Amino acid sequence: MTIQWFPGHMTRARRQIEAKLKLIDVVIELLDARIPLSSRNPMIDEILQNKPRLVLLNKNDLADPEVTAQWVTYFADKGLQALPVDAANGNQMKEIMSRCKQLMAAKFETQIRKGINPRAVRGLIVGIPNVGKSTLINRLAGRKIAATGDKPGVTKGQQWIKVGTEMELLDTPGILWPKFEDQEVGMRLAVTGAIKEELLYTADIALYAVRYLCTHYGSSLKERFGIEKLPEDPSDTDAVIEVMEAIGRKRGALLSGGRVDLDKASLTILRELRAGKMGRISLETPSEV
Ligand code: G4P
Repeated sequence: MTIQWFPGHMTRARRQIEAKLKLIDVVIELLDARIPLSSRNPMIDEILQNKPRLVLLNKNDLADPEVTAQWVTYFADKGLQALPVDAANGNQMKEIMSRCKQLMAAKFETQIRKGINPRAVRGLIVGIPNVGKSTLINRLAGRKIAATGDKPGVTKGQQWIKVGTEMELLDTPGILWPKFEDQEVGMRLAVTGAIKEELLYTADIALYAVRYLCTHYGSSLKERFGIEKLPEDPSDTDAVIEVMEAIGRKRGALLSGGRVDLDKASLTILRELRAGKMGRISLETPSEV
């Protein structure tokens, strides 16, 4: 889903989430494990206030496990539990339910002491577009929930979806905007496919990705594309473009006359990276950001 964000939309999106917060016990904040901070809403703490919150690092199947472990520690230091998940494959669904229950444990104990039988934990999934909210809702529900067309500004009746016997989810997730005014964040979002390619030049996005790969995942790049030598200095743009051209030649992305079609090569690089063909790769680490 592509949403054109402008201040009016942001205000409406925020109001919609704030209205939903009144109905729920726990917020499930969905982030992309490859770019946890870049896929985060810049105003999230202000919007969610003190609601109990579970952070999920989704698309963990594509992210570097070592870097993800660093992110889990990063969030723990901020007092937030972060759980790496893979909504597409549905692992960790029981753990999500159990963590949400844990977050409510103290409140439920008080209720039990007062003789009140606690009801199911009520949750809301929030996150930026394409982070996997619908996929996660379907997984937790154990069935496909009809596309709701939940857009900022479009209101509709809320439905509770049962997740096992002890949890309920609001069927429409909260859609948040990323921090796209930051260029670096925009690039990372584009590399992962969260921002549509048409909004930026594909070759610029691929250049950013290849530079990052040369710096952090050189051996994966070499292995995938059979490249022998990588630039000694990845800040040298011409040298990184040479790598992209070498990839283009390997993949047959050529124009008439034998020149490399850099746009086509760029698309190939991004497609293969997003599909995990170069292995599990993260695009930001806690120490970098
Ligand atoms: P949204 O509601 O937050 O906008 O996101 P949505 O669930 O539509 O997911 C966006 C894309 O991310 C989908 O791919 C979905 O399959 C993929 N996805 C969600 N969770 C995971 C995950 O844990 N791992 C991986 N690798 N991918 C995940 P798509 O290409 O847009 O659609 P499709 O290929 O599923 O048809």
